[in-house]
Amino acid sequence: MTIRAHIIGWGKYVPERVLTNDDLTHMVDTSDEWIRTRTGIVERHLVTEEDTTATMAIEAAHAALEMAGLKPTDIDLIIVATATPDYIFPSTACLIQDALGARHAAAFDLAAGCSGFVYGVSIATGLIEIGQYKNALIIGAETLSRITDWEDRATCVLFGDGAGAVILHANGAEGGVLSSELGADGSGGDLLILPGGGSRNPTSHKTVSEGMHHLKMKGREVFRFAVRAMPAATRQVLAKADLTLQDLSLLIPHQANRRITDASAKTLGIPEDKIFSDVEWFGNTSAASIPIALCEAVEQGRIQRNDVVVFVGFGAGLTWAAAAVRWSAPLPTVPPTRWEKAWYDWRYRYAALRSLVRRFVRWLASRFVKD
Ligand code: ACO
Repeated sequence: MTIRAHIIGWGKYVPERVLTNDDLTHMVDTSDEWIRTRTGIVERHLVTEEDTTATMAIEAAHAALEMAGLKPTDIDLIIVATATPDYIFPSTACLIQDALGARHAAAFDLAAGCSGFVYGVSIATGLIEIGQYKNALIIGAETLSRITDWEDRATCVLFGDGAGAVILHANGAEGGVLSSELGADGSGGDLLILPGGGSRNPTSHKTVSEGMHHLKMKGREVFRFAVRAMPAATRQVLAKADLTLQDLSLLIPHQANRRITDASAKTLGIPEDKIFSDVEWFGNTSAASIPIALCEAVEQGRIQRNDVVVFVGFGAGLTWAAAAVRWSAPLPTVPPTRWEKAWYDWRYRYAALRSLVRRFVRWLASRFVKD
């Protein structure tokens, strides 16, 4: 029997705080009109001080687990696509594994810029198809506001914070992830870069005073790359699945700029209602943008069972990625009951307690156990 990877759970989280274009006009020399016409963005959500990439990702993972009806201990793989991890190490995936109590899961972070979520879906699908894992949690999560230069009008108007997650489940049924297509072109690495904080420019007074801890982008070049890469990857991933654009039900592109998605739709010759956009309300949330858009598309009734959905992204690296999915999860979804919610809540409290006990035992061992 051929094992396939099926999406059985999905969830998103965006912080409550909203920053509108008008708010931005008080921060930098810009206008609502410029931002709307050049990007399509109207507002974006930003974290408050206590939120991090991991805290948002955990909320998205909770929603995905509840949707899938799985226990955290059923998850055997966690991949977190992010360019803004809580730390360089430990991985954000490990922080999430601990918080969920997913004690049977391998966990790692994945760095492929805004294409990271689709890279994660592709890798997890491969591992599921060879029988190594049964339930993989793939998260895209970003706190871009923490690496944004709030004095640079060319970039600060673009980004938002948030997280989205899906659960891929091994199943012999037809459908699920049909094909994927990943690519990279490192010669464009300098077009989108966070220069400071790595081994090339370790954090110092100099890196901070020169603003190297802020994201730098050559917007026009990235734009040109994106409008070529997204249509090409969409065509390739459909061809790999023996499908054509006629079979496509909905294209969910990385939400960077409305002009990029419109141009991609035009190049592909697909009507506007076949391409999903929510960049208006969330801005560019990098690796989180596709899973957030997926959740929005489902909520808006834009996806039905057996639909062919293509995720396609591009980003820092440069990278690009696409995945074609035949939607197999039943819709509309049934929200968890109060008792199911309480059961999940209890499990997360138990996970927190377990983590505390393990830290305490480790502390005791370090004080009283001689090697
Ligand atoms: N408000 C007002 N004017 C502005 C602003 C602003 N916020 N930002 C730039 N301008 C000005 C520029 O200074 C320039 O003025 P000039 O002509 O006097 O020099 C003018 O507007 C045009 O600037 P461009 O950079 O050429 O504007 P463009 O039409 O290319 O739009 C944008 C810029 C929106 C950034 C576009 O290039 C784009 O979307 N690029 C792709 C970016 C992207 O997708 N990034 C995501 C990649 S993944 C990731 O980031 C993790």
